[in-house]
Amino acid sequence: MLRRQFLNRLGLGMGAAFLPASQALALGASGNSNPQNPANAGPISQGDWKALRDLFPLTRDYIQLATFLLASHPKPVADAINRHRQAFDENPADYWHSKYLTIDHDIAKSAADYMGGEPQCIALTDSTTMGLGLVYSGLKLNSGEEILQTTHDHYSTDMSLAHRAKRTSAKVRQVALYENAWQVDVDDVCQRLKAAIKPETRVFACTWVHSSTGVKLPIRAMADVIEEMNRTRNDNEQILFCVDGVHGFGIEDQDVSKLGCDFFIAGTHKWIFGPRGTGVIWGKETAWQRSEVVIPSFSASYEVWLGTIEQKQVPIGEHMTPGGFHSFEHRWALPEAFKLHRQLGKDNVQQRIHQLNTQTKQGLAKMSHIKLHTPMATQLSSGLVCFEVDGMHPEEVVKTLHSKGIIMSNTPYRKTYARFAPSLINNENEIEQALAQIKALA
Ligand SMILES: Cc1ncc(COP(=O)(O)O)c(C=O)c1O
Repeated sequence: MLRRQFLNRLGLGMGAAFLPASQALALGASGNSNPQNPANAGPISQGDWKALRDLFPLTRDYIQLATFLLASHPKPVADAINRHRQAFDENPADYWHSKYLTIDHDIAKSAADYMGGEPQCIALTDSTTMGLGLVYSGLKLNSGEEILQTTHDHYSTDMSLAHRAKRTSAKVRQVALYENAWQVDVDDVCQRLKAAIKPETRVFACTWVHSSTGVKLPIRAMADVIEEMNRTRNDNEQILFCVDGVHGFGIEDQDVSKLGCDFFIAGTHKWIFGPRGTGVIWGKETAWQRSEVVIPSFSASYEVWLGTIEQKQVPIGEHMTPGGFHSFEHRWALPEAFKLHRQLGKDNVQQRIHQLNTQTKQGLAKMSHIKLHTPMATQLSSGLVCFEVDGMHPEEVVKTLHSKGIIMSNTPYRKTYARFAPSLINNENEIEQALAQIKALA
């Protein structure tokens, strides 16, 4: 029946072909091959951060202030991965056949329920880097048209664009949106952006929250600048606004389809607590129309190749989802992470992370041997707190704190800073202990 459900969803109704005989062995409507192992242990109460912490197998030997790097799987996600893994190990062909035509849509639907936008406009990826690589490789540009990016972007944006430039001779230029992170100013950012856009600019690429400084860019205000410029441009000269949103996603209570950008690209294995090796790209329908596929999709588009349906019947997000077999037990468990965030409440999540971040920044700001680089304002920062300790290289700071039982990181940029990332798995007491160790470095 799966194929009929799938074709119905595409609006093709009855008369569709039936499943191959092997799929008659499919693992039941729920796809749960292991009914002894329920999907999760029941909803968590909003704001119960202690109960949330207990869902993670993270060692308690350390205070964890760098979990955003790569998620530890919370219990509902780990349980879902185990269920899928067991079913694959028992009967890979049947399990895959029982789900492959509908599961991408179901995952995109759970992503849209969390992040906003339509599921049809969401592509599934393995990471932020994969999403950035796909978008920046696939964008259609004519000769002489350029991509503008910022000097604050992560390696993954920089190199996706550099590789694109090398392959196709596309022009890429950079703009600095601020000189001093601590003093970043919305009007100044917008003026710098406006001044940097040239008649030949067709794409503006940036990063929502900078993992180099902790600055959160005012994406909505920047989108207003671009929208105003687009109003006086012809259809074929419109500027596309693309955002690496991986930091901020899983923190901010934001419908990304209302943020003002055309593409929002993020991994879901950082702040979202999704399975390692997962990510999403949301794009406006009009933005996807300006992109070419880079890696062929294995879902509905395969039917087009088989001659069963037409390309226009395939949702654009599915068409843009890179195909081939993946570590499906991870990808298919992603809805559990979105579900957990929705149970916690997006507003509670935002409030809690900013509360712990503010406690951290206020504590650091009182220390005379510390130079704080992240802005104090919650409107201009999110999740990450970057700073320097007088007379100590950031790597030495990280090493010293590790020896005291605190895991932090230093920013992986040419100019590196020490970095705390207070998150939902931390508490006020842990932040005070980390601050005390930083104070002791004076
Ligand atoms: C701003 C930013 N973008 C992209 C990445 C890469 O993310 P992923 O591991 O999901 O590819 C990172 C860090 O890992 C980052 O800090």
